[in-house]
Amino acid sequence: MDKRFYITTPIYYVNDKPHIGHAYTTLACDALARFQRLDGKNVKFLTGTDEHGQKVEEAANKAGIDPQSFTDSVSQNFQDLAVRMNFSNDEFIRTTSARHKATCQKLWNILIEKGHIYLGKYAGWYSVRDEAYYTETEIVDGKAPTGAPVEWVEEPSYFFDLSKWQDKLLAFYEANPDFVAPSSRFNEIKSFVSGGLKDLSVSRASFKWGVPVPNDDDHVMYVWLDALTNYLTATGWLDDDAGYKDHWPADVHMVGKDIVRFHAVYWPAFLMAADLPLPKRVYAHGWWTNEGQKISKSVGNVIDPHALVDEFGLDQTRYFLLREVPFGNDGDFARSAMIQRINSDLANDLGNLSNRVQSLIVKNLEGVHPDMPSAPTADDRELLEACDGLLSSVRTSFSQQQFHEGLKAIWEVISRANRYVDNQAPWALKKTDPPRMAEVLAVLMETIRTCAILVQPVMPQSANSLLDQLKVPSDKRDFAAIGGARRDDLPVHIEKPQAVFPRFVEAEE
Ligand code: MSP
Repeated sequence: MDKRFYITTPIYYVNDKPHIGHAYTTLACDALARFQRLDGKNVKFLTGTDEHGQKVEEAANKAGIDPQSFTDSVSQNFQDLAVRMNFSNDEFIRTTSARHKATCQKLWNILIEKGHIYLGKYAGWYSVRDEAYYTETEIVDGKAPTGAPVEWVEEPSYFFDLSKWQDKLLAFYEANPDFVAPSSRFNEIKSFVSGGLKDLSVSRASFKWGVPVPNDDDHVMYVWLDALTNYLTATGWLDDDAGYKDHWPADVHMVGKDIVRFHAVYWPAFLMAADLPLPKRVYAHGWWTNEGQKISKSVGNVIDPHALVDEFGLDQTRYFLLREVPFGNDGDFARSAMIQRINSDLANDLGNLSNRVQSLIVKNLEGVHPDMPSAPTADDRELLEACDGLLSSVRTSFSQQQFHEGLKAIWEVISRANRYVDNQAPWALKKTDPPRMAEVLAVLMETIRTCAILVQPVMPQSANSLLDQLKVPSDKRDFAAIGGARRDDLPVHIEKPQAVFPRFVEAEE
């Protein structure tokens, strides 16, 4: 098995404070990074901020601050969010760092040496909001296809010979059918490339806030060439150190659907041109709306992730975002749906189950963890087999970035356990058959342990509290601890449980 795993988020523009969309992309990566670590992989999880370009320069001017001080403060907001959301990134990269700039210049020099960059003149549309060039045919009613305003730009520019990479890109897509997911996005990319590629302008000459082009002070690099290179910077490619060979190529570049083209067309073309290996996968998730409405600053309905955590709790928010919407689809943030998930999935299904079972053990068995049945009944076996099969199905879902499916599978086992507890009625067995009661509680404890281990990637704090209650030692919480052979070295003695998943009660008006 390939033991290393390198996952990246897009790096975020520092023109504004972080919102739910940013939190969502990084959360998905965090869940996957944590999953892979628990599954025994050597993970590198990278996130950071994209600090150059006209959009950031304009935002700094508007704030009346020099761009560096401006980016320092806005980047800090993203770093604070990562802490608040309990993201486990191994590194936070900033594109204004000296190391990153040197890495961009190294890549640039290689592309120049290999003859893939030439000087010319750009005349066409540019959208500062998208930091993207658009052709005449893409313009709709005077705007970018994304609805962003465009301006006419005419300036000297360096070009990358993207047009020469069409066939090689198509051949690469053909040979790597999992390169872009979901497949609908992959189809869009293939048809875009099949339609023909024009050489890409990779420098700007009308402002200064960017990585200087080597040997030409009049130009800074196009912000997307600079930004994409961050994935290499973080591996140590600049010095060819061991980290680079250990981690490149990336296993997953997680992106939103709006920026697939940059990752699935331009980035592989740059890398091929530089003779570097290509990333294994680009996953494009969908966009959130707020109560059915497109999220926008002008509408004033931007969702602040800090406010969600304040009101609903951290793990509740993390769970909702990954459970509610099939990953890859657009999704709607509805307050009622959030409350429903908290009260039904978390407080009732998992929280109550675990409280009930532990309370019965405390009350009826003096807190001593019962032994597994020596001759399990058909019902016992059915539940235990469902538990033991869970890791492999959740692994499949997570490795395809289908987080909602993985969580659904866990909750199917939790529902099964709730039916089992009702059918077996351990509280009644207390009087009629105490040894059987102990067996039933042992099977349930095993189910709760398995589920608690498996929800760690999505709800790390709550899962830990649950595992603390079950007295599972900290070195027995990884996925190797799941399954038949491992349940026997379980502890000992538990105490009266505290609710890990409180109900959400709407504050009185
Ligand atoms: N700086 C570029 C990425 C460079 S990567 C080499 C960028 N930054 S961004 O800050 O504008 O967006 C970052 C991510 O946030 C994108 O993946 C985008 O899809 C995501 N989202 C922005 N708004 C969103 C929603 N309303 N919903 C979900 N995600 C959205 O693009």
